[in-house]
Amino acid sequence: MDLQFQKRKILWGGATAASQYEGGWQEGGKGIDTQDVRPYIPRTSNATTATRLLTQAMIEKGERDTKGRYPFRDGSKGYYHLAEDIQLLKELGMDIYRLSISWARLFPNGDELEPNPAGIAYYDRVFDEIRKAGFKVFLTMNHYAIPLNLVKKYGGWTNRKLIDFYLRFAKVVFEHWGDCIDYYLPFNEINAGYFSPFNGVALLKPEDGGYDQSLVFQSLHHQFVASAKTIELGHSMVQGKFGAMVACFCYYPYSCKPEDNLKQTLDENTNTWFCMDVLSRGYYPSYMQSFFDANGIEFEITDEDRELLKHNTCDFVSFSYYQSSVASCEEKEKTAGNLVVSTKNPYLQANEWGWQIDPVGLRVTLNRIYDRYQKPVIISENGFGYADVMEEDHQVHDQYRIDYLNRHFQEILNAQNDGVDVVAYMMWGIVDIVSAGSCEMGKRYGVIYVDADNYGNGSYDRYKKDSFYWYQQFMKEYREE
Ligand code: BG6
Repeated sequence: MDLQFQKRKILWGGATAASQYEGGWQEGGKGIDTQDVRPYIPRTSNATTATRLLTQAMIEKGERDTKGRYPFRDGSKGYYHLAEDIQLLKELGMDIYRLSISWARLFPNGDELEPNPAGIAYYDRVFDEIRKAGFKVFLTMNHYAIPLNLVKKYGGWTNRKLIDFYLRFAKVVFEHWGDCIDYYLPFNEINAGYFSPFNGVALLKPEDGGYDQSLVFQSLHHQFVASAKTIELGHSMVQGKFGAMVACFCYYPYSCKPEDNLKQTLDENTNTWFCMDVLSRGYYPSYMQSFFDANGIEFEITDEDRELLKHNTCDFVSFSYYQSSVASCEEKEKTAGNLVVSTKNPYLQANEWGWQIDPVGLRVTLNRIYDRYQKPVIISENGFGYADVMEEDHQVHDQYRIDYLNRHFQEILNAQNDGVDVVAYMMWGIVDIVSAGSCEMGKRYGVIYVDADNYGNGSYDRYKKDSFYWYQQFMKEYREE
C-alpha cells in the first residue's frame, strides 16, 4: 500500500537573533531596546528569573546605567563581524540562515513615521552578504527585543497601538528585503508571552507581585492580530511563506494514571498549542474558555479581529525544541527547561542548566505538530547549550554537541519516515551568542566559538569548533544521498 506522503530534501541551517548576536547597540542611531536593559546577574538559583522579569525600576536603572554589564549591548559583536561570519557560515555549507531584524535599529523609538536610514543601510549590507552567500532566508521579524520607548510610552503589547507600529515596521521589511526572504516569522516563540512576559510581550512585572494575567492575554491577542495583519499585508506584497512559531516542551505524563494523562493534555494545550491553534486554525480553541474562566482572565477581542484571524492563518508551522517535559498531578522533583520548569524525568540526562536531553521527544513533537495542523513544519530552533572550553591552540572539542546533534538529526529523519513534512532545520545560536534566558555568554550553542566571556572580556575572534566540521560533513553527505 502506498500512502504517497510527501518527503522532501530537508534544508539544513543555523539561526541567530539580532539582540543576542549583533551588539552595536548605539551604532547608526539605533534606539535602546528591551534587551539592552537586561543586566547580567551571575548564576544563582534565581538569577535567570531576576534578569528575565523586569520591573519599571529595573528598566529605568538600565537606561541610565552606562557602566554595568548589559550583555545584549555587545551580543557577539556580529555588527562588526558580519562579512566574516557569513563567510564562515558559507564555508560550513548551510542551505538556510535564520536571522532577525532589530526593530529599534529601523525605528529607534518604535513610533516614528519613517525608518532610520542608517538602520536600512545596515540591513542592506546584511542582505547583500546573505545574497552573495546564496542562503535561503528565514526571517524572524521580531525576536523578543522591541524599542524601549514602546514600553515606557505605551505599555508594550498591552496597547493596541503597537499593532500599527509593528505593521509599519513590517512594511519597510517587505519593501526593502522582500525579494530575498523565503520564510517569514512575525514573532519568535509567541507562547513566550505567557511564560516570560517581558521577553515575549514586553510587559513589566509589578514591583510587588505577579503579572495581571488579563494583561498577558490581551498582549498576546494583540500579537495574534499583528501576526494576521502581517500575513495579510505580506501575501499582497511579497512571495515568501508566512509561519507561526511556538516553543515546544513535549509533555509526557509522569505515569499511566488517568490524572497524569489529563494533566499532560491540559498542560500541552495551554502551554504549547493554544497560540498555534489561534494562528494556524484561525480561531481561539474552545479549551481556553474554561482556562480563562477559572483564572478570571478577561480581555477584548473584536469581531473584526475574529474575521482577520480566520482569513489570515499561517502557511507553515514551526517550533523550538530543546528538551521534553513531564506532567504530574502530584508534586515531584523539578528541573529547569526552556521557558518552563518541569517535573524531572528519571529516564533522561540533563545539561548543566537542567534541560533534559531527549532526541526521541523531537520525533514525538514533529509527529504531534504535523498531525495537529497538517502544514509544512520548520524546526526553527534546536541545539545544545554548554559551557565550552577553548584550548590553548584555539580548538574546541565539543563531542557532547556532536552526539546531541547526531541523535536529534536521526530522529528528524525518522519523523520524516513517519510521514511528517519537514521543510527545514535551524541549529540555534550557530555562532555563539548571548543566552536569552540567563544573559550568559558562557552558555554556548554554536559550531563557531566567539572568544568572549560573561563580562564581555575577550577578543570576540571566531574559531571553528569540532562540531563545525561534523555539521559540514553531515550536510555534504546528506546532499549526496
Ligand atoms: C529560545 C529563544 O527560547 O531559546 C532563544 O528563542 C534562546 O532566543 C533559546 O536563546 C535558548 O535559550 P537560552 O536561554 O539558553 O538562550
